[in-house]
Amino acid sequence: MNIAQLPTPALIVDFDKMKNNIHEMQQRIDALQLNLRPHTKAHKSPTIAKMQIDAGAQGICTAKLGEAEVMAAGGINDILITTPIAGKNKIQRLVKLYQQYPDYRFIQVIDHKQHIIDISEAATDAGICIELMIEVESGQQRCGVEIGDDLISLIETINCSDGVSYVGLQAYSGHLQHIKGYQERNTQARTVVEDLFNYINNVLTPKGLAPEIVSGGGTGTYEAYQGLGFSEIQAGSYLFMDTTYQDIGDENDQYQNNQFDVTLKVLSTVISHPTPQRAIIDAGMKCLSIDLGMPKIESDDMLSYKTGGDEHGIIHLIDNHEPLQIGQQLILLPSHCDTTLNNFNTLYAVRGSEVIGQFPIIGRGRSD
Ligand SMILES: Cc1ncc(COP(=O)(O)O)c(C=O)c1O
Repeated sequence: MNIAQLPTPALIVDFDKMKNNIHEMQQRIDALQLNLRPHTKAHKSPTIAKMQIDAGAQGICTAKLGEAEVMAAGGINDILITTPIAGKNKIQRLVKLYQQYPDYRFIQVIDHKQHIIDISEAATDAGICIELMIEVESGQQRCGVEIGDDLISLIETINCSDGVSYVGLQAYSGHLQHIKGYQERNTQARTVVEDLFNYINNVLTPKGLAPEIVSGGGTGTYEAYQGLGFSEIQAGSYLFMDTTYQDIGDENDQYQNNQFDVTLKVLSTVISHPTPQRAIIDAGMKCLSIDLGMPKIESDDMLSYKTGGDEHGIIHLIDNHEPLQIGQQLILLPSHCDTTLNNFNTLYAVRGSEVIGQFPIIGRGRSD
């Protein structure tokens, strides 16, 4: 099938370039002598997760328990759930994952004593042991216990509770991923976690509380940590990229990140052309997220996008631009891959203008 036959708006991915991105990141992480545990919140597809594991990833991350259920059902057997869970229902679902897939590994991130008490109680009742990773504050002021006595207290609470075990620490600095300029970004990323590694070396290790795993890093910061003590990198967006990530720069180009190609795109159709300067496409906020800015139009800098609400996109044509045709397709490059993907049920794999396959986005909407 040709992309011209796809009903729009449609989410498409340049399949060969996505595969290249997957291998490129794996090679880069191998060269740093770290493990890659890609964050699958970007794609929400067990099939793509398998591609990452086949390329060498040692497991995956999911943001949410619901996504972990989808990935486990799809045969992914090593999953780190990177967001704490709360409440009896959620904890019972975590217990059920352990019971349903006894040979799989699930690690749950926590950052509060109450998490440990509740998970320990449910796991002990079920006769299982749940692996816990403690999230530490890494500059983002989101989840994460402060480094110091509170962290030690959490580790000791896990160590003296039944039904739970301490496997390590999560330190993810999400607020630094998009800093423009390679040096500046990597310096900030390293600086913000230096205290943590000093603390591990000078306090936790002598007390016998050293983490087995230290997990963190993203597409923008994965290179910052060499020699510090991270054991695995959680980068996710690299397989798709987006215009925000493209604009952060890399080691060779201050203004453009060429380490990975932008592969995720939205195919849309011109549905109206009310004036010579204004055309309307069928892609609004219900398919293109704009939390990180407006999408760009592929291969035409003389066209710009502005949101026209839920269902419409407004395309501005500069003076003297050739009129667009009603029914003509336009390809948009999203500014934020994760939140754009979560608007679609299907991701079409394309090679040039040929549709060569499709990935159902099974984890879509599974933020539960
Ligand atoms: C905890 C955590 N780890 C890793 C990532 C992946 O980062 P990126 O998609 O920027 O590579 C995210 C993304 O939001 C995250 O929240």
